[in-house]
Amino acid sequence: MMIKVHPDISGIKPYIPGKPVEALERELGITGSIKLASNENPLGASRKALAAIRRGLKKVRYYPDGAASELKAALAEKWKVTPAEVMIGNGSNEIIELLVRTFLLPGDEVVMASPSFSLYALMVGTAHAKSIQIPLKAGRVDLPEMVKAVTKKTKLIFICNPNNPTGTIVRQSEVRRFLSRIPKRILVVFDEAYAEYASDPEFPGSVQFLEEGAPLMMLRTFSKLYGLAGLRIGYGISRPEVVDYLNRVRQPFNVNLPAQQAALAALTDEDHVAKSLEVNRAGKAYIYAHFDKMGVTCLPSESNFICFSLSGSDPKVGRDVYQALLKKGVIIRHLGERHLRVTVGLPRENRRFIRTLKEVLLRRGK
Ligand SMILES: Cc1ncc(COP(=O)(O)O)c(C=O)c1O
Repeated sequence: MMIKVHPDISGIKPYIPGKPVEALERELGITGSIKLASNENPLGASRKALAAIRRGLKKVRYYPDGAASELKAALAEKWKVTPAEVMIGNGSNEIIELLVRTFLLPGDEVVMASPSFSLYALMVGTAHAKSIQIPLKAGRVDLPEMVKAVTKKTKLIFICNPNNPTGTIVRQSEVRRFLSRIPKRILVVFDEAYAEYASDPEFPGSVQFLEEGAPLMMLRTFSKLYGLAGLRIGYGISRPEVVDYLNRVRQPFNVNLPAQQAALAALTDEDHVAKSLEVNRAGKAYIYAHFDKMGVTCLPSESNFICFSLSGSDPKVGRDVYQALLKKGVIIRHLGERHLRVTVGLPRENRRFIRTLKEVLLRRGK
């Protein structure tokens, strides 16, 4: 006899992570592959963070500080808030899960954009709640349509800014207008996993809106710019009462000791941050220039990845090109139909991606 499972759970489409290099190389018997599929920092973690991890390893027989007090204090100082407004999670993914588990009742509604980060809908499904997906407008999150989608059942709104997978942003003035139209009983979650990469001066200051009284939570991560994806650590900033509820629901030792120490050190390494941003800026410029020459269309990205589309009459072009790149050891993401996403890598990785994409497109054209 098989154990019975609720249809909301059996209906969940599992999260598809970027293919790991090792898995691809084992499958195809190849070596020297590159992964530009999960928006990690191609420079890796800073030396300061790596040294902190080594120090942390010496203490792994002890439980970590369940309250992550030192890190909370550092983040509170960085954002000019109190430690009670800071939530530390096992990746920002954990905070997304905690939000859903803490605040949703079966049948509640959660408004989000589509396409956006797939984990929101997945998590909402686990809480037997309903995702209301609002299509992007010209590749951007459509805030006015999100306002219209709010009902009495709406509890949460997820806004991914910059949006994954498009890399586009919503700006300060439109967010202000949006927040003024959202009932205060709804928690608006700004998932800013890629915000550090955004250079638009109109990128919204969500903590400022929080200070002005908007019920929101800002999510950030150490997985992207700070290069610590493998350690699993992220954070959120919100009202103390929101943080308090999430802390009641989380596991007591949700964030491991080396992760806490690495995150603390990473925050102080301004040189590494500056270098990482410059590698990303130059890499984007290189890829844009080549896409332009190749006639590949893309959305201008405020992030560390680029969403691009292929032309041609064959609707399978996206999947075919994704697979042809895989066979040549270049891992990117197929988003569906003609759309793909590539993470900006090191200069040599970007060159290899462009060279391989050109080869693949040329072969298809023959
Ligand atoms: C928009 C967005 N939010 C959150 C995350 C998860 O980050 P973390 O590694 O902190 O769980 C990702 C990771 O890809 C992401 O793209």
